[in-house]
Amino acid sequence: MKVEVIICSGTLCYLMGGAELQLLSEHLPPALKDKVIVKGSPCVGFCDKPESGKPPFALINGRKIQQASVDKLISEIKQELGI
Ligand code: FES
Repeated sequence: MKVEVIICSGTLCYLMGGAELQLLSEHLPPALKDKVIVKGSPCVGFCDKPESGKPPFALINGRKIQQASVDKLISEIKQELGI
């Protein structure tokens, strides 16, 4: 099973920390590297809805992650994989 991570690279997310997230693949622990597909996306549509939470946003298997950071995404990926 692969985990699909979509990183929002829309302007707001990018400015709010998404730039660092674009480097997620390089920060993945070796054990996760072949289990994760990382993709960038134009604005995923959460930033204009205050109830969605705070940018930067990412999606892990379609699940919204707000205030994403590299560490947060790695722990969410592990959770998704059950490890
Ligand atoms: S710029 Fe990321 S949700 Fe809009």
